[in-house]
Amino acid sequence: MITQNGKTIHLTGREFSYVMFIDEFNNLLHFHFGKKIADLDYSLMEEEWTQALGFVSDRRCLDVYQQEYPSYGYTDLRNPAYQVKNKFGNMVSSLTVKDYVIQNGEVPEISGMPALYKGNCHADTLKVILEDVTIGLEVHLLYTVFEEYNVIARSAVLINKSDENMCINSAYSASVDFPQGEYDVIHFPGSWGRERDRVRTHLTMGLKAELESARGGSSAQLNPFVMITSPDADEVHGEVYGFALCYSGNHSTVAKIDQFGFLRVQQGLNPHQFEWFLGAGETFETPQSIICYSDEGFGKMSREYHDLIRNNLMRSKWADKDRPVLINNWEGTYFKFTEEKLLAMADKAAAVGIDLFVLDDGWFGKRDDDRSGLGDWFVNRKKLPLGIDGLAAKMNEKGLKFGLWFEPEMVNPDSDLYRAHPDWAVHVEERNPVLSRHQLVLDLSKDEVCEYIIRVVSDILENANIEYVKWDMNRQITDMPCGGYNHKYTLGYYKIMSTITERFPHILFEGCSSGGARFDLGVLAYMPQIWASDNSDAVARLKIQYATSMCYPISTISSHVTASPNHQCGRLTSLKTRADVAYMGAFGYELDITKMTEEELATVKEQIKLDKKLQTLMRTGDFYRILDPYETNYCSWEVVSKDRKKAFLFVGRVLTKAQTKEAPIKLQGIDESKFYRNVFTGKEYPGSMLMHRGIRPCFKWEDFATDIFMFEVVE
Ligand code: DGJ
Repeated sequence: MITQNGKTIHLTGREFSYVMFIDEFNNLLHFHFGKKIADLDYSLMEEEWTQALGFVSDRRCLDVYQQEYPSYGYTDLRNPAYQVKNKFGNMVSSLTVKDYVIQNGEVPEISGMPALYKGNCHADTLKVILEDVTIGLEVHLLYTVFEEYNVIARSAVLINKSDENMCINSAYSASVDFPQGEYDVIHFPGSWGRERDRVRTHLTMGLKAELESARGGSSAQLNPFVMITSPDADEVHGEVYGFALCYSGNHSTVAKIDQFGFLRVQQGLNPHQFEWFLGAGETFETPQSIICYSDEGFGKMSREYHDLIRNNLMRSKWADKDRPVLINNWEGTYFKFTEEKLLAMADKAAAVGIDLFVLDDGWFGKRDDDRSGLGDWFVNRKKLPLGIDGLAAKMNEKGLKFGLWFEPEMVNPDSDLYRAHPDWAVHVEERNPVLSRHQLVLDLSKDEVCEYIIRVVSDILENANIEYVKWDMNRQITDMPCGGYNHKYTLGYYKIMSTITERFPHILFEGCSSGGARFDLGVLAYMPQIWASDNSDAVARLKIQYATSMCYPISTISSHVTASPNHQCGRLTSLKTRADVAYMGAFGYELDITKMTEEELATVKEQIKLDKKLQTLMRTGDFYRILDPYETNYCSWEVVSKDRKKAFLFVGRVLTKAQTKEAPIKLQGIDESKFYRNVFTGKEYPGSMLMHRGIRPCFKWEDFATDIFMFEVVE
């Protein structure tokens, strides 16, 4: 809901208030973001000390105020929300309110970029029009609140109202000035195989937390999701503000405490090397920053994001459907496969109840390793005499759906595509572009390149019964020209994804980027699941999946059972542990199933049956993190159905110890007045006992042991 009271504009979601007001000089000032407060005209309640400090000789000094979209260089000298080089050749700017409009029942679209949609929710949008008449700049701030959520979605639109060009050097989607207090920042850095690690830092005056990617994609090195918390915040206590950017390119979240103790947090496009020329009358839109408030720790924030992403971001039909259990041949064969081998794997897969066979890298062009072939999306008949259509048909005969890997944004210099169009690779004229994994990046800022990709991928999808696509992107982008190149690339990527996913709505698309290097809300708008990491070791996955679930629903986290010893860590884990960890997500196998023993195959069959029983719960339920693998020797999490009749509990112990009896695990979110039956054992327990005394896990006497429980209400 959005209300006005004098000069105050008050936005409310389910349980929070976001309050701003327009002061006597027409500045847009921030008043409160947090628990709900009464509806009043707060412009009348400015603090006296800011009155005293807040003036330079002839005007209000904004350096002392909390603002909504601060400028730089005209009384405020903190981090600006935007910077524009104007026709006078300088970057001084100052915005004041021209007008504002409340758009009841509306959710804005952002041109060329994904954003939240209304779905079945009630949402309202506030548009505040700010202007700098001296330089001819107008900025529209968009704020959307949903009655159902503790979430506010923000973006900005910059319009050149002058008759000359201007250059945007930065334009954040959101800027929030928090009042004096103690704050921690939690961010999710990493690397290949260690995506979305979790790091917590206490913010101190003067220290600038600059959490960013300048790698061309949202990156494994820093996820575009950041939390600002009170120092006491944990899973169930404390105030938490999540900042999640709906964007897949270079991003930045900045947090800095100023001289008066105000904390300024900004999120949006990365200003690093950003410049966007805005001609007279032209408009520039920022991506959407989705900010979530929780007064009960990380857990409540995660459940908000999970519901929002499932109901108001993901567009795929598959977002609301149980996913097929798949087998992917990558770790089973890598590039060394024949049609015969794939069909032998398929026979075994079908026999244990797997639904979908995914053929990964190596099926096209001249591609026996990663040195050649990318760009030539034509089946390699030497390897696959049946062709893709024939192979898909054969898989279908065996009762399996068929899925295919693509990496359409890339090209190997050793490819027909590159030989025909060397200029289609991202490059600057005076240098040879840098190879990474022997490949170059196609220039998605060019329409003809996007059209080519759409055409070749569509041809394959139209001519074979393909029901799943894994869309990979295996390198960072170097050699980027100036002029906001990375944003243009990202817009090209969205154009391709929206066209292809709309054209083939029946296909389940899975995002991937050298593992989980592009795990973000922008991708999820088109593809309902993303490969979380090439590190498929069950113990490493405890942390990766745990941290990923902070923002992203578990149904979006693609997780596979792979071989032991693990290919990335060399660790030996039991088949049970590997599956127990992988149930948390879009479940599948990725190993040479023909090498499994009869006993292992029988276990796999049972695991698949269980996953099929769990799928709906995992996809639609409320997620609780119970034991933290970053801080303990354990990891535990739980999913509870919305009606609280079912719950699934996972507990993992990393290392075994002598003479230890595990502590009982206390469930959350179930109904304490009901009895629950553990369907694995038939034993019944009062909900109150499960919640307040807890249930003891039972581990095998070994490292990397896990236990799982499935509870159902006794009616
Ligand atoms: C990187 C992905 O993360 C892997 O799963 C696999 O698809 C390879 N690329 C194939 O090149």
